[in-house]
Amino acid sequence: MKPCVFVTRPILPGPLERLAAIAEVRVHEGEGLLSAAELRAQVTGIDALFCHLTDIVDEALLEAAGPQLRIVANYAVGYNNIDLDACRRRGVAATNTPGVLTESTADIAFALLLAVTRRLVEGDHMVRAGEFNGWAPQMLLGHEISGKTLGIIGCGRIGQAMARRARGFGLSLLYTQRKPLAGDLGRELGLEYVSLDELLEHSDFISLHCPLTPETHHLLGRTQLARMKREAILINTARGPVVDEAALVEFLQKKELGGAGFDVYEHEPQLSPGLAELDNVVLLPHIGSATVETRRRMGEMVVDNILAALQGRRPPNAL
Ligand code: DGY
Repeated sequence: MKPCVFVTRPILPGPLERLAAIAEVRVHEGEGLLSAAELRAQVTGIDALFCHLTDIVDEALLEAAGPQLRIVANYAVGYNNIDLDACRRRGVAATNTPGVLTESTADIAFALLLAVTRRLVEGDHMVRAGEFNGWAPQMLLGHEISGKTLGIIGCGRIGQAMARRARGFGLSLLYTQRKPLAGDLGRELGLEYVSLDELLEHSDFISLHCPLTPETHHLLGRTQLARMKREAILINTARGPVVDEAALVEFLQKKELGGAGFDVYEHEPQLSPGLAELDNVVLLPHIGSATVETRRRMGEMVVDNILAALQGRRPPNAL
């Protein structure tokens, strides 16, 4: 009998054909998300789970799947939705998609930086609303990014890709993470390693690129936001709960921060009260990796991981 793979949401056509050659592939075709109970009902008896960052993979789900489950393959680089300890205890492999969404995510982070500093969305709204009555010397004044300092929190692949973009735009670069980058990489990218507090105090713009873990949950809370410059702009394309969003809204409302660009939210897809009413923020619907090229590569990578597990090999992106 062929092994069974359950795919929790439809993906771009292509990658699943390779799986279908050796497995029965069942795709949840519905528009919306499966609830935890629906997901548990769907996974009973499957051998592999092709899941998304919106699916919570916990003890209860693994239990519902049964002991034959070999792999939980996430269609994302972030894997805070997966209880890795529970997977380990049950001998289930867990995988992610590192590397293939680096450039697309850094593009969105940089696009947000430019959109907030140059007020692109406000400008677009103004033109569409028929309120553009011709060039004016004080209309929609923003701030230049050239010559300013960008602080990068979490300087893995995506943080480094952000640094490369920022260098091209004439920014000075600070970064913080648990340990400095190995070898000459930091120097080559023009990055200076500093503590979190130093980064908060000296950066004009701050971009988050760290994973969500218990250590990074609310890494930027009230105390940290208070250390930032009053004009500073915060960009988050990592994971929402890294920032205490309620505190951030208060700081933005009181103009104790310059602005923010968000692709991810603490209570995604819900927004914290007040966030959508602010004019100094640009809000995107978690589209960091949303390019045709990236999503194709992510799909292929997930399939490679599942095929390896089903064929008794170690998946290439085992966590
Ligand atoms: C990821 O892969 O973690 C991204 O957030 C998905 O776009």
